[in-house]
Amino acid sequence: MKNIRNFSIIAHIDHGKSTLADRFIQICQGLTEREMSNQVLDSMELEKERGITIKAQNVTIKYINKNKKIFYLNFIDTPGHVDFAYEVSRSLSACEGALLVIDSCQGIEAQTIATCNMALKMNLTIIPVLNKIDLPTANTQRVIQEIKELIGISTKHIVKCSAKTGTGITELLDTIVTKIPPPSGCINSTLQALIIDSWFDNYLGVVSLVRIKNGKLIQGLKIQVFSTKKNYYVNKIGIFTPKSKNKNYLHSGEVGWISCGIKNIKSFPVGDTITSSKHPIKTSICGFKKIKPKIYAGLFPRKTENYKLFRIALEKLSLNDASLFYQPEFSHSLGFGFKCGFLGLLHMEIIQARLEREYKLDVISTIPSVIYEIQTLDNNIVYIYHPSDLSKYKKIKEIREPIARCNILTPIKYIGNILNLCSNKRGKQHNIIYHSNQVTLQYDIPMSEIVVNFFDQLKSSSQGYASLEYDFKYFQKTDIVCLDILINTKKIDALSLIIHRENSKSQAHKIVNKIKTIIPKHQFNIVIQAMINNNIIARATIKQLRKNVLSKCYGGDISRKRKLLEKQKKGKKKMKQIGNVKIPKETFFSIFSIK
Ligand code: GTP
Repeated sequence: MKNIRNFSIIAHIDHGKSTLADRFIQICQGLTEREMSNQVLDSMELEKERGITIKAQNVTIKYINKNKKIFYLNFIDTPGHVDFAYEVSRSLSACEGALLVIDSCQGIEAQTIATCNMALKMNLTIIPVLNKIDLPTANTQRVIQEIKELIGISTKHIVKCSAKTGTGITELLDTIVTKIPPPSGCINSTLQALIIDSWFDNYLGVVSLVRIKNGKLIQGLKIQVFSTKKNYYVNKIGIFTPKSKNKNYLHSGEVGWISCGIKNIKSFPVGDTITSSKHPIKTSICGFKKIKPKIYAGLFPRKTENYKLFRIALEKLSLNDASLFYQPEFSHSLGFGFKCGFLGLLHMEIIQARLEREYKLDVISTIPSVIYEIQTLDNNIVYIYHPSDLSKYKKIKEIREPIARCNILTPIKYIGNILNLCSNKRGKQHNIIYHSNQVTLQYDIPMSEIVVNFFDQLKSSSQGYASLEYDFKYFQKTDIVCLDILINTKKIDALSLIIHRENSKSQAHKIVNKIKTIIPKHQFNIVIQAMINNNIIARATIKQLRKNVLSKCYGGDISRKRKLLEKQKKGKKKMKQIGNVKIPKETFFSIFSIK
């Protein structure tokens, strides 16, 4: 166990975690030159395309230092986007150390500070790594100053490197083996293993990534899952190098995967503890914090006959992704589907893209909403996230909306723009902390304002320099209304949304005008109306279509005809027929962006 080191790589998006992980694998020859493609850990097709890490991954590599001493390094590559902070906390709980990778040109970002504080609370040894030193804009002195000021950790063991060129990587590996402590725990104690991640494999069934805290996990052993008290026989054990490699056992301190040949995806809950059936432990390993979804939206298959396949797809995706919540739902306009909970808009986009790509499902998403707390007159507390639920409760004493505490880190010169943005988003200032070149703005902002496009607006008001970290803090009294949309007098429940009363009128106008630009012309007039409490407050009309698109083409102007036909063809995109009106799929979501 003395030669094992378990560590995570934490950093902000694009600071170079995956590239660094690739370099480690290359130096330690986990893969041959030919097998080495860029960013081998980002194996999901979607990850490669978007260039971001979605799922945390684990790799065990063998490092031989200059004194020919062998070390086994388990490192977990973690995602950097704010939506995936839960993956980071999960990875950290399986480690003794963390590499804090910072782009030397960008400096520290808000998310990095939050993650680092999480690692410090877990008593991990942190090694600051200044990456991208090959770039002419690298400013390591400034970043060292920031580490001292913003995180307050020692900068004595800082390593400067370039994950791209390989400079400083061996020095970093030596620092890892000397500074990060080996795992504690006892091989001869009762088995205690933490489930870091679980996913569904078509051949093996449920596979779980585990960190053995105590004891030994042997092939064929009868194990017990702590929370469910259910017993299983260990079928297969292995590690990732990053290729999957079978093993006969894993002992305390090691990280690897196990499979028990089970199909039930709920059998190995992430964060749970595995113990031996014969001598079960009395207490579980304290897991990581369980994170609740931040936004909810209805997802419906465009073709109703795909409902069953859709349910199976969600079931499988939810095993890979503990934070994905789903529950059956019925909509008058869209039929049977699921109410789903996500960590943020990026998370929602990724789930939708995976449903479409991996399961060939065409899904329609309704307008996302945060969760609201309702106190009824008889003092019952209920939570709603669907606009139609608002009308179910007639005797309401108070409605409260979720408020997030935001930490925004920005260079001082953008402070004016950001203060304006925060106040436009109904934010309340909590604190301002000045550092040498940067400033931390602490604001309490309604979650409904953040989840829309706050992050993009923050980036554009600071030329991309400001960064954001936020977390739910409390519920606060609010005044909201349900805005319904009618198309040719028929209420479309999937287009209803909850908005703040203060600017509901101007919102309603923007929304009907937006819908007007999305729904194509039909053979008849289409009237779009916005309604609050049965009062119409905005209206727009889509005038009927002239029957023959070529009718205005006199003579034989072929190229003009072709252009018009092309234009008509473009109009024939994926639509949902509701009553006699065909509504383009994107209508249901697009309203959201103008909030
Ligand atoms: P996420 O997976 O999205 O969290 O990002 P990441 O932190 O893993 O970043 P990634 O490794 O994908 O690197 C982001 C970009 O920076 C890529 O274009 C890399 O090629 C580049 N990059 C990474 N390290 C270096 C470096 O040391 N020098 C230079 N010049 N570029 C680097």
